[in-house]
Amino acid sequence: MKVSVSRGSLAGVKSQLTMVPITEGEKLSFQTKEMSAKEGKMHVLYSGYKGSKLLLLVGLGKKKELTKEKVRKAFASAVKKAKSLNVEEFLVVSNIAGMNEKESSAAITEGILLGNYAFDKYKTKKKEEKEVKGFAIVAGGDVSREVKEAEIVCGNANLIRDMVNENADVMTTTKIASIARDIARKNHLRLRILEKHEMERLGMNLLLGVSRGSIYPPRMIILEYRGNKKSKDKIALVGKGITFDSGGINIKPSGWIETMRQDMAGAATVIGAIKTVAELKLPVNLVAVAPVCENMISRHAQKPGDIVKGYSGKTVEIENTDAEGRLILGDALAYTEKVIKPSAIITVATLTGAVLAIFGEYVAPMMGTSKHYMKKLYDSGERTHERVWELPLYEEFMEEVKGETSDIRNLGYNKRYAGTIMGGAFLKNFVDKTPFVHVDIAGTAWWEKPRGHVPKGGTGFGVRLLTDFFKHLHK
Ligand code: BES
Ligand code: ZN
Ligand code: ZN
Repeated sequence: MKVSVSRGSLAGVKSQLTMVPITEGEKLSFQTKEMSAKEGKMHVLYSGYKGSKLLLLVGLGKKKELTKEKVRKAFASAVKKAKSLNVEEFLVVSNIAGMNEKESSAAITEGILLGNYAFDKYKTKKKEEKEVKGFAIVAGGDVSREVKEAEIVCGNANLIRDMVNENADVMTTTKIASIARDIARKNHLRLRILEKHEMERLGMNLLLGVSRGSIYPPRMIILEYRGNKKSKDKIALVGKGITFDSGGINIKPSGWIETMRQDMAGAATVIGAIKTVAELKLPVNLVAVAPVCENMISRHAQKPGDIVKGYSGKTVEIENTDAEGRLILGDALAYTEKVIKPSAIITVATLTGAVLAIFGEYVAPMMGTSKHYMKKLYDSGERTHERVWELPLYEEFMEEVKGETSDIRNLGYNKRYAGTIMGGAFLKNFVDKTPFVHVDIAGTAWWEKPRGHVPKGGTGFGVRLLTDFFKHLHK
């Protein structure tokens, strides 16, 4: 979709439709009492004005209760409305009572671009509605930077949605590697991809064990962006990339298995985040590490009860082959700390279904050893509405993942108790001294129903959160 900015007034600018945000209390000269400005209300009017035939009034509710998220939501509905009217290009008035114009322009652009997303490549019937080709934001001042930035971030969030929604036999390990290669080439990122024989040489047996049942080869993708040569800081993002999680020999039941192509969302998110940070040329140093493989049931698959020694040298009892994310991340984390030597590590993973029992689809729990970075992530969550919330990693939890015949085990003392924290406690064993935060996106990466600017299926959660985090890293 083409996004542009038009400075000044509407006079002389032509379009099929103009969107006008309205808030309760502030009435436009032509607005009658029937045209409610309540949140969620919209009104289509014939303007008679030759520049723009139609006006779409977009209700935002009370000025005092207005948030950026409400603006995003309202404009996600507005673009759907425009589409249902067969409008291909439109204008948007950026002026919202009580909000600064740069902020409102960014939120409007985000709402439209995220809200217009649909994963429809497998629909064979041509749609009757036309695609929206573009829109222009009309603003008094210069908002081009904010709009351009929103366009980059949302374009990448939509790309991650596509990766997560795609069939598991299309979005394979090698496909993800080739996407990373393209991104590296276009953005001058350093790229390293470890293949199976190198993993064997390095002793990454936790990752190799999970991958054993699959016909697709494992990969460890490492992308590096250096945007700040003066700083010694370097943050590593480590993302879980299971292209399909069948559960392995502990196979998943119906009702849980159908959406398990989403299990590479962490890998997609860290790749999407580094792409965005590079395109925005942010002054930070960042490495994205994505261990990718498939957890498939097969006669070659790894067996429950096996004890495996990974890259760190620690041994792990595989009590359940479905707790595989922590295994591949264990190897990735130990390798990241030892070889990449970052100043902090953040993991992003669809790690535990238990997240859904805590926060539903709305909030991603985080836990770790760095209060500093958790605070920063929390603040970014509030700004982007991709919210995170800290859970404790007390010593008692660390005790529960200690092994009997092995050093550690991949389940806690009871499968149903504190499942999300057990995942984090397990991961902490593979980070020795580097400040560490783990974000579990099992509830937020995939939605069972659409809401506002977030579609059903892959949500793209994390791209906006992490981009905002890097924007504010040194502030
Ligand atoms: N990929 C799943 C977690 C998941 C569940 C993500 C639902 C998204 C939605 C993970 O590998 C898994 O299977 N975890 C197990 C852990 C258990 C065996 C300790 C789980 O959550 O049941
Ligand atoms: Zn699993
Ligand atoms: Zn999994």
